[in-house]
Amino acid sequence: MSKPKVILTRQWPAEVEARACEMFDVDLNEDDHKMSVKELKKAMQNADAVCPTVSDFQMNEEVFGVKERKCKIVSNFGVGFNNIDTEAAKAVGVVVTNTPEVLTDCTADIAMSLLLSVSRRLGEGERMVRDKKWDGWCPTHMMATKVTGKRLGFIGFGRIAQAFAQKAHFGFGMKISFYDPYSPTSEVIEKFNATQLETIEDVLKDADFVSLHCPGGGANTNLMNAELFGRMKKSAFLINTARGDVVDESALVQALKSGEIAGAGLDVFAKEPIVTEDLLSMENVVLLPHLGSATTETRIAMGLRSLANVKAFFDGEEPNDRVA
Ligand code: DGY
Repeated sequence: MSKPKVILTRQWPAEVEARACEMFDVDLNEDDHKMSVKELKKAMQNADAVCPTVSDFQMNEEVFGVKERKCKIVSNFGVGFNNIDTEAAKAVGVVVTNTPEVLTDCTADIAMSLLLSVSRRLGEGERMVRDKKWDGWCPTHMMATKVTGKRLGFIGFGRIAQAFAQKAHFGFGMKISFYDPYSPTSEVIEKFNATQLETIEDVLKDADFVSLHCPGGGANTNLMNAELFGRMKKSAFLINTARGDVVDESALVQALKSGEIAGAGLDVFAKEPIVTEDLLSMENVVLLPHLGSATTETRIAMGLRSLANVKAFFDGEEPNDRVA
């Protein structure tokens, strides 16, 4: 029997590409360019499975609606799938899967790194040393904000948020509060001695750090707006490892400029890879290039998870991580 034809839209870790080629008849993206809509449509016509990733934000109605489509499953390399129009996929009966769990710890590590970096002014300090502007220790030099014992408030309390809470609560003695329309189990709440709150505003009111953990797109677009920044403590910091569009970036810039909040640690941006000049010019923000899952171990695990979903589908089973 011939192997299913699979197209990977970007370069994947070499080990996973090799595994993919053993399992399927694979077209690789050798030069790792971002595929245009035209190329994505062609991929849908030529392959049984297309494996896009979070940078292919054009997996839209036009792509799913292409004439003479052969593709039956779109297996995303990534847990977030706001790059894929799942309604358009459902409308034409294409299965969509993602890669949850395998990137939980590494993304939580980046969230903790951002929290520490922005509150202790690490980016600013490093720039000072590299620019040879440091003229030695003194008692008032680069005083920052203490982390240990502070309150960390979560908007969304799923897997990544809980892994972050684990590090923050047990490693740094931080108090945990959260808002999530889908309540975690009572065991989870008790484990972190967490305070479950009814509204986002309730979380913002008391948190020293606010971390976002909700999906991007849809109703969450610009969720963190000027009104909500106004509800945060002036001494508080925003951490975003979720999706850039959850934050109204111009409202964030305004809140930072006016001192409504103290700073922000961002791994994701509204229009990646564009980072606005305003953000680039600020010292009280830490800016990372979407590094949440960027460890060798995790990126390999994500690729293998995506392949496992494709395999299950062609073996006639329900893929583990089906989202549409
Ligand atoms: C995801 O998987 O959604 C991350 O943003 C990239 O790893």
